[in-house]
Amino acid sequence: MKKTITVFRGDGIGPEITDSVLKVLEAAGAPLEYEMFNVGQKEWETNGKLIPDEAYASFEKNRVLLKAPITTPVGFGFRSLNVTLRTKYDLYANIRPVRSNSAVKTRFENVDVVIFRENTEGMYIGKENMVDEDTAEAIRLTTRKATRRIIRAAFDYAVKNNRRKVTCVHKANILKMTEGMILSEFREIAKEYPQIEADDKIVDATCMQLVIDPTKFDVMVMENLFGDILSDLCSGLIGGLGLVPSSNIGDDYAMFEAVHGSAPDIAGKHLANPTAFLWSACLMLEYLGENECAAKIRRAVDDVLTEGKHLTGDLHGTASTDEYIEAVIAALK
Ligand code: NAI
Repeated sequence: MKKTITVFRGDGIGPEITDSVLKVLEAAGAPLEYEMFNVGQKEWETNGKLIPDEAYASFEKNRVLLKAPITTPVGFGFRSLNVTLRTKYDLYANIRPVRSNSAVKTRFENVDVVIFRENTEGMYIGKENMVDEDTAEAIRLTTRKATRRIIRAAFDYAVKNNRRKVTCVHKANILKMTEGMILSEFREIAKEYPQIEADDKIVDATCMQLVIDPTKFDVMVMENLFGDILSDLCSGLIGGLGLVPSSNIGDDYAMFEAVHGSAPDIAGKHLANPTAFLWSACLMLEYLGENECAAKIRRAVDDVLTEGKHLTGDLHGTASTDEYIEAVIAALK
């Protein structure tokens, strides 16, 4: 029986990478039906809503969302819709697997880290105040409940996926209460998983060690802002933002999206690399138990990346988004 999922087409490169991914899903025989919605800036301009009520209702019914990137104004304007969706549906675990691939020559060949980013708290609660004309402050929230569940999610993932180690990335030397709580909870929860090695590292030292030798890391867990920054850093280690997918998982809902943004600089030019979004769709298929279909798509993408004849510009190729997608479809077997 086909499963129905909700799809948000997003802004910038969102619509073009959504069309690309749906073409591949169809060619791979994914047993899915789609309820598709325009969301974001364009929707705001035409219909006065960033996310239409029917789009929310569809996600609430289907509980699985494939979401293209959405533009957020920088330094002014509305709160990020991405952050809104993550908090509204309590999608507390933002899971970002970052793996080396054969298409891009980078300094390291065996990067294989999975970042668990706490998705509902930290600085992203958006509580900022002007104390006086020259002083602004932001509140950073850390609760024991959210801390425990993201740490447990990281360890459970490590057990389920035969990973050897979980590293807690923190700044408990300076932020004794918020980061201190994260570190002490990590050390406590680690005792429940004796088969998994547990270690902890200060965030600044972690950044330095990641660029020197990322192969020393495995599963990593951290609060929201550190996770945002470190996952982009890790994307750079394997060839860029076009190659990193993500799942946003809660107890009742799940949303799948690329790590990158709406890339307004290349929108509509057929230059976007849809791989990260395609791999996000594979994470979604696996979440839905459609492992074979996901594996088929992953094999096709690997073949096209390895062959290297149809790569997009961010991977130093000359293929358009469509040419790359046609090559992936041709490689499905
Ligand atoms: P960005 O990720 O959109 O772009 C950064 C650079 O990477 C740009 O040069 C872009 O062309 C390139 N790039 C990104 N994705 C690519 C792809 N698939 N193929 C080829 N090149 C790609 O980040 P930026 O410019 O900081 O943000 C643009 C907008 O996206 C902002 O409004 C931001 O708030 C939003 N954003 C949305 C996210 C989401 O919906 N989850 C996540 C990150 C940013």
